[in-house]
Amino acid sequence: MNKLLIIPALFLLGGCAKQNITKDETTPVKTVSKEETIKADAVAKIDGFINTIKPILMSSLKSDPTGEKGIDMCKASAQELTKDYNKKLPSNIKIRRTALKYRNVLNKPDDIDKKVMNQMIASKTMAPVMIETKTGYRVYKPLANMQPCLTCHGDINSMNPKTVANIKKYYPKDLANGFKLNDFRGVVVAEIKK
Ligand code: HEC
Repeated sequence: MNKLLIIPALFLLGGCAKQNITKDETTPVKTVSKEETIKADAVAKIDGFINTIKPILMSSLKSDPTGEKGIDMCKASAQELTKDYNKKLPSNIKIRRTALKYRNVLNKPDDIDKKVMNQMIASKTMAPVMIETKTGYRVYKPLANMQPCLTCHGDINSMNPKTVANIKKYYPKDLANGFKLNDFRGVVVAEIKK
């Protein structure tokens, strides 16, 4: 009885193995286009940037959960951290942050940024997008408003009054408030020169 079962099982195994070999021979090798390589590299550099600033932001929130001191920290170091990170990158790639509703005018979006972000919101996509421009490429990685972000970008009326006062002091024209959990917050952009 056992032998009878083993023999068909071996045939099956042999069959499978043979099929796999045939498949491997006929499946064309997947070629990665130049664009895909540029995009993957840019996303890796954007992630590297996010992983640089996130722990600093989180440890600031840990020492002061109201966000009041974090506003000072962001005001003092967000731009510096971005500059320092860019210094370590090859000269043809530059990282920056922008948003439709921005806090710092230095992060104001240009027309291309606005178009891409509006498309992201309309299509509800949170996946990175690459576009080609006259001079190169841009890779956009969207950012969601997570719970900790609302400490400083949430509803003004629910935020700590001292944090709100601090925001108004440094950014009297602040647009980056009133967000809700998981709202589209903005993007990290990598610009790559051709
Ligand atoms: C402690 C307060 C604080 C927290 C928490 C915080 N931010 Fe901000 N954020 C700021 C300040 C202040 C700025 C402006 C500083 C700058 O970029 O020069 C800013 C700027 C930004 C910008 C750049 C565009 C703009 O509006 O100027 C983005 C994008 C952003 N924040 C996203 C987030 C996200 C996503 C989170 C959550 C992971 C978050 N922030 C959490 C205070 C905060």
